[in-house]
Amino acid sequence: MKRFRRLRQNEVIRDLVRETRLSVKDFIYPIFVIDGENIKIPVKSMPNIYQYSIDRLHEILDEVRESKISGVVLFGIPKQEDKDEYGTQAYAENGVTQRAVRYIKKHYPEILCVVDVCLCEYTSHGHCGVVQSGEILNDETLPLLCNMAVSLVKAGADMVAPSDMMDGRVAAIRQALDDNGFKNTPIMAYSAKFASAYYGPFRDAAQSAPCFGDRRSYQMDFTNPKEALSEVETDINEGADIVMVKPALAYLDILKEAAQKFSTPIAVYNVSGEYSMVKAASIQGWIDEKRIVTENLIAMKRAGASIIITYHALDMAKWLNE
Ligand code: PBG
Ligand code: ZN
Repeated sequence: MKRFRRLRQNEVIRDLVRETRLSVKDFIYPIFVIDGENIKIPVKSMPNIYQYSIDRLHEILDEVRESKISGVVLFGIPKQEDKDEYGTQAYAENGVTQRAVRYIKKHYPEILCVVDVCLCEYTSHGHCGVVQSGEILNDETLPLLCNMAVSLVKAGADMVAPSDMMDGRVAAIRQALDDNGFKNTPIMAYSAKFASAYYGPFRDAAQSAPCFGDRRSYQMDFTNPKEALSEVETDINEGADIVMVKPALAYLDILKEAAQKFSTPIAVYNVSGEYSMVKAASIQGWIDEKRIVTENLIAMKRAGASIIITYHALDMAKWLNE
C-alpha cells in the first residue's frame, strides 16, 4: 500500500514537502488615488479599501512598506470636472497620477510603483479609448495611451501596465518608451483580460463605469480560451515583459495553459469582485477569511502565476509574517 499519510502526520513534515508557497514578494497591491485634499473615502462595495488623496497616501504606503510586499499598482482618479472626451488628465504633467507617482518615488523609493495605463478613469464617457459615434476607436486611442505611459514613466513609474485592450498597444507603448529614452522600463500587459462582471466593485472604486454600453467590443469574451492564448502570444511578440491573466479564480485554466506554453513571467489579477465576495462572506462569519484567502492565492500560484495583484495583499502579508 502506498502510505501517503506518512508525509501528512504533522505540520513540520507537511511544511517540508509543500509544493507551493506564498511569499510577500509575490504581491502587488492596488491603490486608488483621488485628486483633492484630506480624503480617505471608503469604497462601499470593497470593505477596507479606500480612495486616498496624495496628502494621505502615507497612511497606506507605510503599511505597504511594513508588509515588505513588492509593490503597488496605481489607479488615479481626477476630479469629475477635469474629465473630458480624450482623457487629457491621463497624460497631463500635473495629473493626479503623475503627482502620486512623484510623491511615492520621493518618499518610498523601495516600493515598486506600477501604473495602470488606460483612459477610462479620465474620460467623461468612461470608456477605455477614444469614442466616435458610439464606437470605441482602436488606432486613434494608441497615441493617447503612449502619451500616458511616457508621462507616467517621466514622473518616475517603475513599470507600466496597459489594461485598455486596444490591439497593438504593447508595440506602440514599447516604441514610445524607447523613443523617449526609457528602454529599461518593463511593460506588464493585461493580455488575457476578459469582459467580466467581477470588475463591478472596481468601477465604484475608480469611478470609471462607462456611461453607455459596455466593454465587450474590446475586452475578451470569456468563452474563448484559444483566443486568450493568442492574445498572450501577441503581447509577448509585441514586447511585453510580463503578461497578465484577469480575473483570476474563474480563469485559472487560462493561467495554467499560458504558464505552461510561454516562458514569460505571468501575473494574475485577483480582481475587485473576487475580493468583495470573500470579504462579504467573511464579515457575515460564513467562511474563515484567512484560510479562504490562503487557499485562493495558493491556487493562483499552483496554476503558474509568478505575480499576484490582489486587494488581500496586506492581510496576507500579515498572516505570512505572523
Ligand atoms: C481599467 C481597469 C479595470 C480593472 C483594472 N484596470 C476596470 C475595467 O476594465 O473595467 C479592474 C480591476 C478590478 O476589478 O479589481 N481598464
Ligand atoms: Zn479602462
